[in-house]
Amino acid sequence: MKFIFVDNPNEGGIKGAQVFKNALANNAKTFGLATGSTPISTYNEITKSNLDFSNKISFNLDEYIGLKPTNPQSYHFYMNKYLFSVKPFAQSYLLNGLATSEEAELARYDRLLEKYPIDLQLLGIGKNGHIGFNEPGTPFDLTSHKVKLTESTIKTNSRFFNNINEVPKYAFSMGIRSIMSSKQILLEAYGENKADAVAKMINGPVTEQLPASILQTHQNVIVIVDEAAASKI
Ligand code: GLP
Repeated sequence: MKFIFVDNPNEGGIKGAQVFKNALANNAKTFGLATGSTPISTYNEITKSNLDFSNKISFNLDEYIGLKPTNPQSYHFYMNKYLFSVKPFAQSYLLNGLATSEEAELARYDRLLEKYPIDLQLLGIGKNGHIGFNEPGTPFDLTSHKVKLTESTIKTNSRFFNNINEVPKYAFSMGIRSIMSSKQILLEAYGENKADAVAKMINGPVTEQLPASILQTHQNVIVIVDEAAASKI
């Protein structure tokens, strides 16, 4: 793992956008994208830049089940708002949280991921060490799957909703196996509420109880952290 220590998320965004720029220079074709508050500064830097993704492909990590793409809490909406409206890709794939056949939707995503291998995957990290929506206990060898969100994640993510009852209980997520297939991974973490998860990700045992710990076994990971998130390393 290579570490980039930054003073704040804004500086992290500058470094994050640089990683995207380098990937483009190395002819990356497919980008794995993340949501949450963490990647916003990177997306802001990308939208201000002259980086061009118009002939690239993107995949998103996850989506809530049951939210329409027009729902401001959906990850479809988030991606349009923070990135795609300014930096469109040739094709952007997201899991469809309204799919009538969940099985068919997951199979569709896996087929696409096999067809277009990810060159750079962006990740945040949950307070409990989840990546995408791969909660603690998720087998490392899963591809796309349906997730029952943990109470911890529902509570943490309720800050984006009017009240906790509006937070969906289920989501679709790309699996850890798909994430690990990416050529390069960029994980960003900011703030002291990420400090435990970051420390365990780096120094703890590689265990399904802390999904991000699997990244210790990937050959090409860049971690951008601020001082607070790095405080327990
Ligand atoms: C959500 C997302 C993750 C994200 C995590 C952290 O549950 N599914 O992809 O990394 O929360 O979010 P934040 O960046 O807002 O702390």
